[in-house]
Amino acid sequence: MKPRLPAVRPPTFRGRLHDARTATSLGRWLGAAIAVCFGTGLVSHYLQHPPDRLVDVLPSRPLWGYRLTQGLHVATGIAAIPLLLAKLWTVYPRLFAWPPVRSVRHALERLSVAVLVAGALFELFTGLLNTVQWYPWPFSFVPVHFAVAWLLVGALLLHIAVKYPEIRAHWSRESPGTLTLPATDGPDRARS
Ligand code: HEM
Repeated sequence: MKPRLPAVRPPTFRGRLHDARTATSLGRWLGAAIAVCFGTGLVSHYLQHPPDRLVDVLPSRPLWGYRLTQGLHVATGIAAIPLLLAKLWTVYPRLFAWPPVRSVRHALERLSVAVLVAGALFELFTGLLNTVQWYPWPFSFVPVHFAVAWLLVGALLLHIAVKYPEIRAHWSRESPGTLTLPATDGPDRARS
């Protein structure tokens, strides 16, 4: 008689660390940090590089204003780093969603998430190195950091629109959270 091999069990993604409630509550803080970072970044950019027609209009006072906006920009950018890492840890099982693409809409949705993640990592990484004036890349920091910020915010707004039903369902603590990822959009390994 042949010896029976033990059944191979794929890893499970159980528990609150990977559920939609955690993704939503981390997303709230991350979204707030990125919104403040984007707003203060715009203020800083347009004060330093004003469009011709706004040169005489944009105020250069109060003097502490720049310290405030720049301080908030750096503080929220740095705060967003652990928040982003935690958020990516929470949702990473979705990377293994099977089938990887279910329809054109789903493909576009995944593409927008790829832009969102790449944009967020790029902005936070380049911004952090900028605080120590270290530029180990071949492009000019300011225009690229500025352009990718718009890409990131656009992808974030799209992400929030796509996830709106889940965000609404898991916004408050009382909402009925799922303890495992949904079978249709991730490896429902808890059932294996
Ligand atoms: C830079 C900001 C953000 C990044 C990089 C990010 C990244 C991601 C990624 C990669 C996923 C998995 C996507 C999928 O396969 O469907 C996801 C899911 C999700 N995100 Fe975000 N996100 C961000 C901001 C937000 C914000 C602001 C909210 C709302 C408060 C939010 C709520 C959600 C929800 C509800 C899910 C689904 C989680 C699940 O069903 O398990 N995210 N996010």
